[in-house]
This record gives sequence, C-alpha cells and structure tokens, in this order.
Amino acid sequence: MTRPYFDDLPRLFAQNDTAALQAFGKHIHWGFWADPATADGSLEDFFQAAEQLSRQLLAHADIDDGLQILDAGCGFGGTIALLNGDYQNLHLTGININGEQVERASQTVQPQGSNQLNFVCGNACQLPFADQAFDVVLAVECIFAFPSREQFFAEVRRVLRPGGKLVLCDFLIPNSLGGLWKAFEGVTNYLVTRAYGKFTAEDNPPINFWTFAQYAQLAAATGLSSLKIEDITPNTVPTYPVVNRLMKAVDPSSTAATSGLAFLTRIGAIRYVILSYQMPLA
Ligand SMILES: C[S@@+](CC[C@H](N)C(=O)[O-])C[C@H]1O[C@@H](n2cnc3c(N)ncnc32)[C@H](O)[C@@H]1O
Repeated sequence: MTRPYFDDLPRLFAQNDTAALQAFGKHIHWGFWADPATADGSLEDFFQAAEQLSRQLLAHADIDDGLQILDAGCGFGGTIALLNGDYQNLHLTGININGEQVERASQTVQPQGSNQLNFVCGNACQLPFADQAFDVVLAVECIFAFPSREQFFAEVRRVLRPGGKLVLCDFLIPNSLGGLWKAFEGVTNYLVTRAYGKFTAEDNPPINFWTFAQYAQLAAATGLSSLKIEDITPNTVPTYPVVNRLMKAVDPSSTAATSGLAFLTRIGAIRYVILSYQMPLA
C-alpha cells in the first residue's frame, strides 16, 4: 500500500525534495487563510497558512511565559517551534508515536532562551507523564488517527492541572448528517486511511470522523468543560489543491481521498473545527 503523505516524507526529505520540505518539513497539517481569496496556490503561501493554522489554535490556549505545554501527535514539532520562538521559560513536550518524526523534531527544533524542550516517542492515548503535569495540552490535526478519542481525553484529564486547557482541531460531521454519514463512513475511512496512512502502527484503527454531538458527549463524560467551538472550514479550503498536487506527484491514485474530502467540505458534509476545553478549577 502506498501512502505518500507520511510513508514517503522521510524519503523525500532525505532526497532534499524542496517541495516536500517546504510544504511539510515543519507542519503536517492544513493551512488557515484569514482571507481564502488571497491564496495563490504556491508552496510558500501554503507554508505561511500552515503556520497560521497553529497560531489559530494557540489563540485558544491562553499561552503565557512559564507554562508546561504538551503537544500530542506533535509531528515534526512545528507548533512547538512557534511557541519556542514566541515565549520564554516554557517547558515544551512533544509526543508522537512515529520515531522518525520524533527524531526529525529533536534535530530541527532547538530550545531558545530559557525554554526547555523534550520530544518523546509514545502513544498519545497512554501518556508517559505524571498526573497534573501540564497547563495546556494541544492536539493539532491528529486526534482522528489516535487509537481512541475516549482514551485520549481520559489521559488529558489525568495530565492536566486544575483549570488547564485542551485545544485540538478535527474534521467534524454536522449532527444533522450523522445518520446519513453511517452509509459513507466505511468507504471514506478506507480511502482516507489508504491515502494518508495510519500514520503510525499497522494495528491502529482507520482514520475516522466524529460528529459535534459525539464531542459534546465525550467532554461531558470526561468532566471537561467546552470553552469554544470555532468552525474555520472556509479558511482551510485553499489547502486541497496544494495537497492534491503534491500527492499526485508521488502517487496519482492517492488523490481520490483528498478530492473526496474537498468535495465533502464544499458541500458542508465535513467541517474543519477548533475545539477548546478546560479542566475544572478544583
Ligand atoms: C496530520 S499529522 C499532524 C502532526 C502535527 N500535529 C502537525 O500539526 O504538524 C498527525 C500526527 O499524529 C501522529 N499520531 C498518530 N497516532 C498517534 C498516537 N497514537 N500517538 C501520538 N501520535 C500519533 C502521527 O504520527 C502524525 O504525526
């Protein structure tokens, strides 16, 4: 099975493929354009939009100097690199299940000033950290690949301090389409997983999508309060042609999933959403 998005990135980086490095050398996620009409389809423009997507999430997290922050599913450490450049005296920890990504993050992101950095290879659903170790947990465009959203939330509840925040982004299905979605779920999950890979271990479940209602139920069951739900779908749309072009160069058959996602996004069946939650204060 060819999975150009992840399996091929280390190979392309090793070959000094400038397109792959520019598009995905730092962040492996969609872009955010404040004004999507300004998107010009270039890789530089996509890179800036990917930086902005991380910043959109960070705006929900009330980051300040001195915090202990965990980036779960940190990829190549792009969001940690932004925090590292903007704040002081942070304890920044990135965890990712894929050793190659952790190695690249450790090599490319070096601590600035008084910040401390730690990249760990491990599973976001079995966090190797003490209870109440963090003020903020981030999960940038990765929770759909984790073995279980329920296990991840339970782990976040354990490692966050009272009043601490969880900020994540995910592709969500509108509640009104939840029933209909069941009919397409199997084929969509298969195509997306085939194109983007399981990111990690072969025994991971397929990438899968949740509704807004499922998140509300999970937060209530976990005891986290929902702070804000920001639907940024229109701001991410210029991502699709850029990613499709890059993937097509590696494996033309893999573009079906991205084209399918683009279509479902256009008709409103998939929304790109930032969700933030807070731990109880006591
Ligand atoms: C789309 S990428 C996003 C990476 C990074 N957050 C970013 O925004 O650049 C999804 C990431 O989730 C990671 N991942 C998948 N399952 C994981 C797990 N169980 N624990 C930790 N990381 C995981 C993948 O290896 C991949 O790096």
